[in-house]
Formats: sequence, C-alpha cells, structure tokens
Amino acid sequence: MYMHDYMKVNSEGHLVIGGCDTTELAKEYKTPLYVMDEDRIRDNMRQYKNSIDKFYSGNGRALYASKAFSAVYMYKIAAEEGLGVDVVSGGELYTALKAGFDPSKIVFHGNNKSYDEIHMALNAGVGRLVVDGEGELEKIDAICKELDKKAEILIRVKPGVDAHTHQFISTGQIDCKFGFAIENGEAYEFIKKAMTFDTVQIKGLHCHIGSQIFLFEPFKCCAEVMMNFYAELKAELGLTLPELNLGGGFGIKYVESDTPVSYEGYIEAVSDIIKGICEENELPIPFIYMEPGRSIVGDAGTTLYTVGTIKDIAHVRKYVSIDGGLGDNPRYILYGSEYDAVLANRATDTPEETVTVCGKCCESGDIIIENCHLPKAQSGDIVAVMSTGAYNYSMASNYNRIPRPPVVMVSNGKSKVIIKRETYDDIIKNDIL
Ligand code: LLP
Repeated sequence: MYMHDYMKVNSEGHLVIGGCDTTELAKEYKTPLYVMDEDRIRDNMRQYKNSIDKFYSGNGRALYASKAFSAVYMYKIAAEEGLGVDVVSGGELYTALKAGFDPSKIVFHGNNKSYDEIHMALNAGVGRLVVDGEGELEKIDAICKELDKKAEILIRVKPGVDAHTHQFISTGQIDCKFGFAIENGEAYEFIKKAMTFDTVQIKGLHCHIGSQIFLFEPFKCCAEVMMNFYAELKAELGLTLPELNLGGGFGIKYVESDTPVSYEGYIEAVSDIIKGICEENELPIPFIYMEPGRSIVGDAGTTLYTVGTIKDIAHVRKYVSIDGGLGDNPRYILYGSEYDAVLANRATDTPEETVTVCGKCCESGDIIIENCHLPKAQSGDIVAVMSTGAYNYSMASNYNRIPRPPVVMVSNGKSKVIIKRETYDDIIKNDIL
C-alpha cells in the first residue's frame, strides 16, 4: 500500500489527486481510468530545465521522450514548459505536429526509419535526425536533394556501458540493435563516412544506455566515454562536435523500496565530467540534450480500476480481479514489473492481506500486481495503481477487443478528458463490414 507524497487523502478516506476525489472521478468517467496529475508533470519537467540552467549555464535542452506517453496535450505541456521532444515514429511526429509543436525542437529517432518517415521529418523541418543505421545516410541524402535541404544530424552510438536494468530496456551495450559501437571502431568508421555527405551536417552524437536506472555510475561513465570519444574524433579527424545527446533512463518510484537518483545531482555530476574533459582536450563545451520520458510522466499517472470477482484459493493465493489488465498495463507480463496500489475509497484502512491483482484478459499472466498488500478488498472497491503514467497508455492494446481507457488530466480540483475512452465502434473501425 504505497502512495506518492504529492497525493492526499480526504476526510472520507478517499484518495485525492490534483485536488480531485478519485472515487468521484471513477463515478464520472467510469473505470478503468488513467488519471494524470498535470502539476506533477510540469514539476518534473521544470526539475530538468532548472538543473540545466543551474549546473550547465542553460547550455542544453531537456527533450521529453514522448514514447513514454504520446498525446496532443502532452506536446502542448512540453511546449509551454520550454522543453523539446523526442519522437521515434511517424505517428509520434504526426501527433506532435498536430499539437502545433515547434518542429525545430523535435529530435527524431529510430533504428529503422522508413523513407516516408524521414521525408515527413525533413519536410516538416524537424530539428535533428538521429541517424542509427547503415543505409540511412543514403536515404537522407536522396530526400535532401529532392527537398533542397541540408539535414542536421546526430549519430547514435553505443558507449558500451552496462546500465544494470532489465535486459529488454538496456541499450548501451554492444549487443543491441540501436546505434554504432565505439569499442569495435564501428562508430568511428560511420562518422568518417557521414563526413563525406554534403547534404548532412553532423551536429553531435547520441547515446542512451537504458531505462529505469537507479545508479549514478553508469550515467557518469557514459558521459566520460562519450567525451573521450569526442576528443578522439577531434584528434584523429579534426571533427569538433558542438552537441551531445545523453539520452534518458532515470528511474522512478513504483514501490516503496525504489530509490530514484536525483536529477539535479545527475546533471551536476555529468556537467563536471563534461567540462573537465573539454578543458583537458581543448574542446568546446557541447550543448547537451537529455531525453527523460518515464521520469516526466511515470509518477504523475495513476490507474483506477473497479474490483469485480474475488477468488480465494486455499493455500495458494487470492486473486482480486479488476476491470482492466494487460491491455492497459502490459508491463508485468513484459518485464515482470512491480507496482503498488491503494484502495481509493478506503485509503486509510490498514492492509490486512496479500493478494494478486489480476486483469480480465484471457491469459493467466494477465497480472498487474503480484503480492499486493491491501485492506480486505470487496467487489466494487476502487483500486488505484501508482506510477502508471509512463509506458502504459503508450503500450496499451486492444487484446480481447477491450477498448482502451480514457486519460483524464487533473489539476487544482478540476479534471478534463485529454484522450477519450474507445468505443466498440472504434474497435471495429478498420474491419471491413
Ligand atoms: N531516449 C531514447 C533514445 C530511448 O530509447 C528512450 C527509451 C528514452 C530516451 C526515454 O527513456 P526513459 O527516460 O523513459 O527511461 N517500455 C519500457 C521502456 C522502454 C524505453 C525505451 N526507450 C518500459 O515500460 O519500461
């Protein structure tokens, strides 16, 4: 039974988020329901922005990694808070452009961008393309010639740093589909090749070592490897790069025992490393990008569900079924991720039992929380699962043809729908009748 510090409980014992009684939200919008605290999102964004101002003289930009939760409203918030965004597909780019996001502050990623996606990005005037594979330079070159443009690019490299996170979400090591490895000379050769294209301008390199990282060390090590490589490129190729993208990956609190790193502390430590290596090697201090996704939206999101069937299997376990499941939160079945929850309508009741909160999909692994300590749950109770703001809606599916829940943004006691609940007609909209 963990809940975030920024949440409250009212005199009726109901969980309150953004000044809204969650039991009222459940009544008004029905469940399952994603609730996002707008002030928390903005605070998270400001922490990055303010830390870059404080420790790096403002010589950088936080990009919201919108894969964590892509929605028109999110790009509007990012724009208002002065952040750029990272997009990774034509769909995310389209959403950002629909939101009126300044294309020059968009960074476009992807290990297998299609010709059409690159065309769309260059045509829209996207700020940076992150080149991530053989063959991509040729595509960019052809499109630039057609559009009479020059592309400003970053090149994705693998720094060879072990991020100590789940293997499916760690990306900095050599055996990974993203980028070019530094350690075997692949990155060096690719950069040399990119220098021969006059339709591209190499602004810098990009790295990202993984996600949900709780340690400073891999981040510091990564900054060091990257800057030493910048020094090598200058010495060997006479190439001086004005920008460096350090990626995202900062862990958040899902359960009581999680210990996220302080973003301020990270930026301070990394700034020192970058400045030190620049001084030693007479390199200009690069403009830095950071790409936090999870740590912007993760702890701002809560999913509300209604309890239905309860099955107490003697000497085995007790299943508490809720009205959603892996369709709205696939992270347990994908990564064995841990979550915690409270009963939103009885948030002050003492936990009495350990149960498995499971979904309604036709799949035994459809679990949201294994071993969840809750008060004795009854049918009709509202379960509020913490920290579902990142990689839940964005990875949601219609498995079993279950419509995706709506997303409601709350702030100052007011709520508004930012993404509607899907209907059965939405479910069949692409079926040929
Ligand atoms: N930049 C790049 C290039 C990335 O690949 C990612 C995440 C980020 C930034 C943002 O990382 P964050 O700050 O959110 O950790 N679906 C998984 C997470 C996949 C992360 C993919 N890349 C999950 O649910 O845990």
